[in-house]
Formats: sequence, structure tokens, C-alpha cells
Amino acid sequence: MDENIIEIKNLKYNYDAEDEANSIKALKGIDLNIKKGEFIAILGHNGCGKSTLAKLINAQMIPSEGDIIVNGLNTKDEKNIWEIRKTCGMVFQNPDNQLVATIVEEDVAFGPENLGVPMPELRERVDNALKTVDMYEYKMHSPALLSGGQKQRIAIAGILAMNPDCILLDEPTAMLDPNGRSEIVRTIKKLNEEGKTIIHITHFMEEAVLADRVFVMNDGLVELEGTAKEVFSKVEKMKKLGLDVPQVTELAFKLNQSGFNIDNEVLTVNELVDEVWK
Ligand SMILES: Nc1ncnc2c1ncn2[C@@H]1O[C@H](COP(=O)(O)OP(=O)(O)OP(=O)(O)O)[C@@H](O)[C@H]1O
Ligand SMILES: [Mg+2]
Repeated sequence: MDENIIEIKNLKYNYDAEDEANSIKALKGIDLNIKKGEFIAILGHNGCGKSTLAKLINAQMIPSEGDIIVNGLNTKDEKNIWEIRKTCGMVFQNPDNQLVATIVEEDVAFGPENLGVPMPELRERVDNALKTVDMYEYKMHSPALLSGGQKQRIAIAGILAMNPDCILLDEPTAMLDPNGRSEIVRTIKKLNEEGKTIIHITHFMEEAVLADRVFVMNDGLVELEGTAKEVFSKVEKMKKLGLDVPQVTELAFKLNQSGFNIDNEVLTVNELVDEVWK
């Protein structure tokens, strides 16, 4: 648990870097480490650089400055790219853009097949991945007929079948209805409990609350970092960064402002009730 799976040092990234005058400085100097088995949430308003960071971790782009080390491998070194993508698989926002086959099990097999996983093992990996996301009984279905949450679970199964240590999810619930969202959140929690490192980029505060540590980004930098309690208790700072905090935390904050001596570090109704009783 103490080993870092991801180390980011002085990471900068500019889009259109060949034309310095017009280049967009998307990331301006990020330092962070993520330990094996951690559940990380990344928050931040639109355009602050979350997806840029995710693509850099996944070695889809390389840093303009600084380094990203995934499981000991630098993303700058081209020969590491496939090992890095295998170690840290990525799930995107739109499930429709991630499904490639016309039958669920073929879709899940696509990644490991490309990695050259041979037959009895391939079968086993696909079945296990589908069971993990509770979609095994749909293995012969057409992905096109599934709900958004089910499609997204198939996309997660496709990543799982490649045996990653880490799963990086870039707003995987943004296009889903509340049911689909809770399916994905449940799946992510389960994967973390089974030992996968999770990096969950989200706009939903109640999803970030589940993480061990939360990073809040703003304008290409990490502005806040800590447990969900520590981060959300900074209500004014969060608002300044264009973000909300969970309703319960906000209520505690307002009670505090009105002169009640209440701890701001509450995330659930029960915790608030305990505080009020004191
Ligand atoms: N392909 C690109 N070319 C040029 N600029 C880009 C490109 N992609 C992103 N940017 C810019 O980089 C900055 C960071 O964008 P990024 O997509 O990483 O933000 P984000 O935090 O993921 O936003 P969102 O919450 O909307 O998904 C923004 O200013 C954006 O306009
Ligand atoms: Mg994004």
C-alpha cells in the first residue's frame, strides 16, 4: 500500500506548443503521487485540465515539461507506452464511443486479444471481467441495446480484462441517469475494495466523497488536496474555485457562520446530527 503507482513531477502541458504565442498552457506544474490501492477523486471546473492530466497519465500525450512515472515507467519513453496503458486502463465519458464489437463478450475480449492473450486464458478473463461488473448474463447481447450504465460497465469490463492495476475514469457517469450513475459508482467502489487503484474524475461531489483522497484542480494546477472531509470543509475556497460542497457540509458551514459551534468536517446527515447534539 505504500508503493507509488503514479508519480508526477513538475508536470506541464501546452497545446499547440510549436506556436509559442498561441499555445494553451493546460497544465502549469503539477506534483502528486498516488499509492497502489488508493481511491483518488479529481475535481475541478470545466477546462481546468482534468482530461489533459488523464491523457498524460495514460500516455496518450507526453509532458511538455516534467515527468509522469507509472509503475516505474516514464511515459516519455515510447517503448513503455503499451505497458503503461496495460497498467493503467482508461474509461471515458461516452460509453458509445468505447464499444467496438456487436456482441458484449467480443467487445470485452477486444483489448486482451490485442495484447495476445491466448485462448483458455482469454475466455477466463472475459468471463471474470463480466462477472465483476455484474454483466455476465448479458455476454451474448448486443451492446447497442443496453442502457448507458450497462454500456459503461461493459467498457469497464473491457479494461478489466486487460488486468490493469489502476483504472482511470474520466467523468464516466456524466452521461448517465441517476440509476446508471449509481451502478458505476458501486462498480468502482467494488473494484477498489478488490485492490485496484482508482482515479476518478468527476463533477459529482457525492462521488468524490467516496475517495481516500481528493485533488481539486484549478487553471492547470492542483489547488487543494486531502481527504474528502478536509477538502469539503473548505467551503469558501471550494466556492471560489467554482465548485459546490455536499449539502450537509454546506449546512454545517452556515450553522457555523450563524454562531453555532459546529465542525465543518461533516459529510453525512448522521455526522451532522452528532455535531448538533454536542
Ligand atoms: N486538443 C486541444 N487543443 C487545444 N486546447 C485544448 C485541447 N484540449 C483541451 N484544450 C484546452 O486545455 C485546457 C484544459 O482542458 P481539459 O479538457 O483538460 O479540461 P477538463 O478539466 O477536462 O474540462 P471538462 O470539465 O470540460 O472536461 C482548456 O483550456 C482546453 O480548452
Ligand atoms: Mg474533461
